[in-house]
Amino acid sequence: MKPTVRELRRTKGARLAMLTAYDYPGARLVAEAGVDLILVGDSLGMVVLGYDSTVAVTMDEMVHHTRAARRGAPQAFLIADLPFLSYGTPEQALANAARLMKDAGADSVKLEGGDEVVPIVEALVRAGVPVLGHVGLTPQTASALGGYKLQGKEEADARRILDGAVALERAGCWGVVLELVPAPLARLITERIAIPTIGIGAGPHCDGQVLVFHDLVGMYSGFTPTFVKRYAEAGAAIRDAVARYAAEVRDGSFPGEGKSFGMSDEVLKNL
Ligand code: KIV
Repeated sequence: MKPTVRELRRTKGARLAMLTAYDYPGARLVAEAGVDLILVGDSLGMVVLGYDSTVAVTMDEMVHHTRAARRGAPQAFLIADLPFLSYGTPEQALANAARLMKDAGADSVKLEGGDEVVPIVEALVRAGVPVLGHVGLTPQTASALGGYKLQGKEEADARRILDGAVALERAGCWGVVLELVPAPLARLITERIAIPTIGIGAGPHCDGQVLVFHDLVGMYSGFTPTFVKRYAEAGAAIRDAVARYAAEVRDGSFPGEGKSFGMSDEVLKNL
């Protein structure tokens, strides 16, 4: 059964399993496997659309893929990312959240940033939009943070991330993603805020974990961070299946016995 946002806010310590999905078959598999939350992340840009970062992802792409994921997982609690530069003002954020929730069927939006996005989160929450925050490494602004690297090692940086998470809770987020921060910092944040933290590369002390689907099943050939655990080698399995198909087409063994249809000799003779 789909949780309510009020229930989600109270899931401290529940070890929520969240995973990304971007289309009908992916969301269907992920939902059938029984995850708690599905995220249509803007990682879409890298693992599905072949961009080299999430910066280029558009609202149209997010709406298109959120719709497909929703069709694959009609009962799931589905979160969709607001992409880069789609929530610069409260008005813009509201209009784009409306597209993700009303047109595409998302249950919540996620956006990146700490203190600086508080007015945006407040406006969304006031309007009834459930918001998941995201601090630490925020991929949409990774360049300004020095690249895809661990955040919050130094005191000032760690304090900024902690303060950001606290500010997001005050602004009304139902949860916060902590990405690529030291495990002790993630633990401190998890203890300091009353809403669930969902970690990625943030250690075991968060209230939940999230991974990118294509990383988990071995289907992304780009850079795979060390914190990712591959539970399958689906990319290799698919490549092998396709190579065997092509070989069998070429040697004539596909389509073989039972893979084609006959017709009556009578009909054939009359042609
Ligand atoms: O876009 C995404 O998939 C994300 C997760 C990695 C948290 O933001």
